[in-house]
Amino acid sequence: MGLKTLFIGHSVICLNTVDSTNSYLNSLIAEKPPAEGLVVWALEQYAGKGQRGSSWISPPGVNLTLSILLQPRFLPLSEQFWLTKALALGVADFISTTVTGASVKIKWPNDIYVNDRKIAGILVENTLESSSIKYCIAGIGLNINQDSFDPSLPNATSLKILSGKNFDLSVCLENLCISIERFYLELRNSEYKRIDELYHNLLYKRGIPGKFALNGKTIEGTITGVTSNGHLIMTARNGSELSVNDTVEVRDIKHLVFL
Ligand code: BTN
Repeated sequence: MGLKTLFIGHSVICLNTVDSTNSYLNSLIAEKPPAEGLVVWALEQYAGKGQRGSSWISPPGVNLTLSILLQPRFLPLSEQFWLTKALALGVADFISTTVTGASVKIKWPNDIYVNDRKIAGILVENTLESSSIKYCIAGIGLNINQDSFDPSLPNATSLKILSGKNFDLSVCLENLCISIERFYLELRNSEYKRIDELYHNLLYKRGIPGKFALNGKTIEGTITGVTSNGHLIMTARNGSELSVNDTVEVRDIKHLVFL
């Protein structure tokens, strides 16, 4: 199977069932590295991986679960957050072009939200070589036709919930690859300013005062942006050990909870 893109999805391996598309792609790389742009798409994952060691659960044949092989050799290791931004923008672009009027946001660093609910997650696993990224496995879980979620996931949504319609998964895969390729090519063409502006425009809760738990302590503050190396910047309004207008830089999402 091949898609109408330049290289992302020029070949697609479609599996009925696999443990995790990220793990499957990783084993392919270990055997004989495939060409950049290969997509591994599974109708069902029985051990789907989420960020920070969590699992990604998706009923069979209902949503998209896929991994894309990228080789961003043009990107020094210290610049790898640009890849996170380009991938998040690609997924966000697919959703906003598929559901008219959806207000799509990127919750730092790369969760995709619509109406305060998560619609997609991205798990990037990089293989490094000296000071560059040799292989990047970009795993994407995108809720498409799921119309209800387990009560343990009260914060989830899908294209179906947003639009009331069912979607063809292969058409969605093709359009998603087109959107991701667009932003990946912009990154390859060093369109840093544009990518940064778009990422900041979509940044969830940017400029909106809110409450957060930072390292277990509640603070009131406002997200103002993200540094070039991917740290979230917040300005405090109030909170233990913080004075008004103190700037806080959060390195890892594990330190922060949006309350
Ligand atoms: C997250 O926790 O938000 C990231 C979820 C990433 C899930 C996708 S589904 C396809 C790919 N294979 C995996 O095992 N995980 C990613």
